Amino acid sequence: MGPDRKLEEAVAAVVEPSLRMTLGELGLVREVRSRWGKVTAAVGQASPEHPKAYQLRRAVEQALKDASGEREVAVQLDVLDEQEAAALSARMRSLAPGGAAASAPSAPLGHEEGRPNPFMATGSRTRVLGISSGKGGVGKSSVTVNLAVSLARRGARVALLDADVYGFSVPKMMGLDEKPVVVGDLLIPPVAHGVACLSMGFFVDDETPVVWRGPMLHKALEQFLVDAWWADPDYLVVDMPPGTGDVALSMAQYLPRSEVYVVTTPQAAAQRVAQRSAFAAKKLKLPVRGVVENMSWFTGDDGHRYELFGTGGGSSLAELLGVPLLGQIPLVPELREGGDVGTPITVSSPDSEASRAFDALAQQVAGIGPSRVYRKELQVR
Ligand SMILES: Nc1ncnc2c1ncn2[C@@H]1O[C@H](COP(=O)(O)OP(=O)(O)O)[C@@H](O)[C@H]1O
Ligand SMILES: [Mg+2]
Repeated sequence: MGPDRKLEEAVAAVVEPSLRMTLGELGLVREVRSRWGKVTAAVGQASPEHPKAYQLRRAVEQALKDASGEREVAVQLDVLDEQEAAALSARMRSLAPGGAAASAPSAPLGHEEGRPNPFMATGSRTRVLGISSGKGGVGKSSVTVNLAVSLARRGARVALLDADVYGFSVPKMMGLDEKPVVVGDLLIPPVAHGVACLSMGFFVDDETPVVWRGPMLHKALEQFLVDAWWADPDYLVVDMPPGTGDVALSMAQYLPRSEVYVVTTPQAAAQRVAQRSAFAAKKLKLPVRGVVENMSWFTGDDGHRYELFGTGGGSSLAELLGVPLLGQIPLVPELREGGDVGTPITVSSPDSEASRAFDALAQQVAGIGPSRVYRKELQVR
């Protein structure tokens, strides 16, 4: 094996920082040369506005230096043209585990191009966890984000969809300010804290209020499912839109295998919220799997648990819905602070009381397993 071959292999082994596959797998290694101590490489840059072009260049430089022993190397990034980008997206679709969504039904739900929705595929192994609440402000997004991180920390491959289109908060909570990379017709969700995320927040700026009209909104959400490169995760955790509005209904249609988890607080006038949640789930025809109580208590410096918002909201809601209470999350200032600075508490203080509560919740969710599908047409005779 000549030296050039060795260098080529080193470059091929570099992981593309946004696409998360090696340059070799992606077919992005253009040229690697070593002449009279001059080491150069040209690699393809998947998109003109590549948020991680700098990291890509540095990674290739480092690989060349390590493999050649030279201190000066030159790396050229060639932006793919439209045709090349289309070929790359096709290649990525086919390379993703469960690629090309092989077993998906052909033309799901009004998607004109008939591109399959990977989460509707009968062979999909992804558990879709819809995190809902009867009302706002109970910590739905905080639970979504920290549950996702906890599941990822257990070794699962986790994706997060922020479907709370009017009150999106996932980009901020996850500390993501980069736009997703677009390769051909593929939207690549950026990864934060081990979780691949998509949110409407990536596509509107803070100053412009979301004035999406219905059809556009539905189209956008469907695109998030169909045109995003989710790569067959173990879990898709969804920050669900509140209530039973249009958006919630179409989410239920796009994600018919979604399991519903209801977030509530200890004082939540259990009766009313329960009725609303039960009604919502019934209307959406999705199974409620469990209740999560948030802001359950505050543990003082004296070690005493202060139940600031009363008690029993979670367990009585669980009882009314006939599902288990899967977790209780304490009230801790660091949880709010973590959300404000983009580092979830499960990342910043993984051993804290709240993080352990999220880990326990993740374990419960993993433990109850996917819901069984009882739909007639899927029954094995
Ligand atoms: N367990 C908790 N301890 C402290 N603050 C919390 C907790 N859960 C949520 N919060 C804070 O309460 C506010 C509402 O939470 P959020 O997750 O945005 O609720 P929702 O998505 O239901 O509207 C946020 O400022 C969040 O940081
Ligand atoms: Mg929210």
